[in-house]
Amino acid sequence: MNILLNDEIISRENVMVDIEDRGYQFGDGIYEMIRIYDGLLFEWEAHLERLVRSAKELMIPLPKGMEVLQKNIHLLMKESGVLNGSVYIQITRGVSPRKHHFPENADPVLTAYVREMERPLEQIRNGIKAITTEDIRWLRVDIKSLNLLGNVLAKQKAVEQGASEAILVRGDIVTEASSSNVFAIRGQECFTHPTNQFILNGITRQVVVRLMESTNLTLVETPFTKEALMEMDEVFITNTGLEVCPVIEIDEQLIGDGMPGYYTTQLQKAFETLLLELIPQ
Ligand code: PDD
Repeated sequence: MNILLNDEIISRENVMVDIEDRGYQFGDGIYEMIRIYDGLLFEWEAHLERLVRSAKELMIPLPKGMEVLQKNIHLLMKESGVLNGSVYIQITRGVSPRKHHFPENADPVLTAYVREMERPLEQIRNGIKAITTEDIRWLRVDIKSLNLLGNVLAKQKAVEQGASEAILVRGDIVTEASSSNVFAIRGQECFTHPTNQFILNGITRQVVVRLMESTNLTLVETPFTKEALMEMDEVFITNTGLEVCPVIEIDEQLIGDGMPGYYTTQLQKAFETLLLELIPQ
């Protein structure tokens, strides 16, 4: 596998991660995961914008190679031969003797690589089971930082209970899920948590919000409770890998009739149409 290290592409064996890289010691860094469909980067501009925002919020200077990032990612994709997969991009604050405060002379370190990935069609078609668990994460989860322990623990709990996602509840409010945004439909209203410091502003979320305009659904960006969630007709989650994925069961209770719902399916169709439009036939 080849890796982009700042502005150079080198083979994985030759990449050295310094023991005092702040990403490694403090989780002091940011990342993005971008989908590749048929050799095309999906929503590149939006991901780049979010990456730059995350860097700004954490006061991480943009690294060497940032201005030619898109070109280098395309080179990586070409070399890897991956047509359908994902790109992972990470920027850490850099290498410096371990002290909590920002180092004066560290250069940020950018790494990126490409992986092959199939669309998870089984989950997209049939839906997934989720659990709910307390949102124990910090109060700036709008920043896509490397600090993911709250997410990791939640996802692990879901897996141990035979589910594939953990819906996070702060107080009694549903925020998002361990690696996805949550939408819930009641009648013709589609509820989702507003974009503030309590959720990541998902790129797939943004796409789905746009696609919703072609349905009869009304978007309601307002906090809602776990109790309300359990009473919804339909629930679905969105992220870069799962796209629009129905949630058919939460905490062992069926949502609606336990099948992907009408509006969720409509949004999935709109997402498919968008992909077909993007990919030249
Ligand atoms: N995570 N919320 C959280 C906590 C996430 O980790 C993610 C995605 C999302 C959805 O964002 P997007 O639509 O931009 O993928 C929401 C990625 C996929 C990850 O960590 O691997």
